Amino acid sequence: MNEKIKKTIDEIKSGRFPQVQDWKALFLYSGPEESRYLTEQAVAARKEYFGNKVFLRGLIEFTNYCKNNCYYCGIRRDHREIRRYRLTPEQILECCEKGYELGLRTFVLQGGEDPYWDDSRLVPLVASIREKFPDCAITLSVGERSRESYENLYDAGADRYLLRHEAADLDLYESLHPEEMMLSDRTDCLFDLKSIGFQTGCGFMVGAPGQTIPHIVEDLKFIGQFCPHMVGIGPFLPAAGTPFEDQPGGSPKLTLKLLSVIRLMKPDILLPATTALSSATEDGRLLGIKAGANVIMPNITPESVRSLYCLYDRKPSAGVECAEGIEELKEQLAGIGYEAVAERGDHPFFTEE
Ligand code: 5AD
Repeated sequence: MNEKIKKTIDEIKSGRFPQVQDWKALFLYSGPEESRYLTEQAVAARKEYFGNKVFLRGLIEFTNYCKNNCYYCGIRRDHREIRRYRLTPEQILECCEKGYELGLRTFVLQGGEDPYWDDSRLVPLVASIREKFPDCAITLSVGERSRESYENLYDAGADRYLLRHEAADLDLYESLHPEEMMLSDRTDCLFDLKSIGFQTGCGFMVGAPGQTIPHIVEDLKFIGQFCPHMVGIGPFLPAAGTPFEDQPGGSPKLTLKLLSVIRLMKPDILLPATTALSSATEDGRLLGIKAGANVIMPNITPESVRSLYCLYDRKPSAGVECAEGIEELKEQLAGIGYEAVAERGDHPFFTEE
């Protein structure tokens, strides 16, 4: 084994942040032995906090309207070719009911930044999910909002919030977004969410157009400093009809390596094996778990609209990706030594004794 790379891995494990050139060596030059060592260390770190548990979250993609125009995203405002939809509160509650019966104890409400879902509509929805499912966690993933709105949603009973920072490097952030979108707004939102009391998740795409290893190192540094409770990463995948439709997709291998690195940096976080990862590679979910992830988010959006939430092309929405395949997913996990549990699965600091 390359001793220098091993030293970098040990350095990460001990809570230090390697130099850029050492990160480069880790990402570009590790062979099978170094990669195996990284994975083993990540899996051992996860085991200390979570044993062999994998937490399932029911993902409800409740609106694909979006006022933003991110260059990479298939539901961006200027994408005129897609059919837009919004679930009704009744439909969303039905999803939760179905999810609850399947053993899910976290509901993730994800959507575009849809002005229709202002506080006058979203707050009562959160309140009614909170009332009907007192033993479940509610996670929101609905983009940038005011601090006041985040407070209202928290007070209504939301527990967690996912808002990927997308890129910690300013130039890269600006090359992925139109000029009205600001990295500082994003990070302000993240700090607001955390200070309000949300379990907060950030994250980024791997292999976004123009992204280099130093950019990824910036993302890791951001994660190290922000100390999120959750981190969502997945490979960039081109979406037809967007400015980046002809760009190459991100590497699943590098994504897996980053999952292990992030696990080693933050052993106690909730780290999903994302849909983008399983879109990019066969058995991506299982490979993600084997690399250090501990969360899977089966899609429980009604089948009639599931294919319309098309952030990127060829997004899988059947089988083990969704509600209908949960039993099979549990079996697959058991087959590799993991147990899918019916628990809220809070971050360890938030778990009530
Ligand atoms: N490929 C991969 N991930 C994407 N996202 C948006 N568009 C794409 C794409 N084309 C990710 C973004 C966003 C999350 C909901 O999905 O990181 O935050």
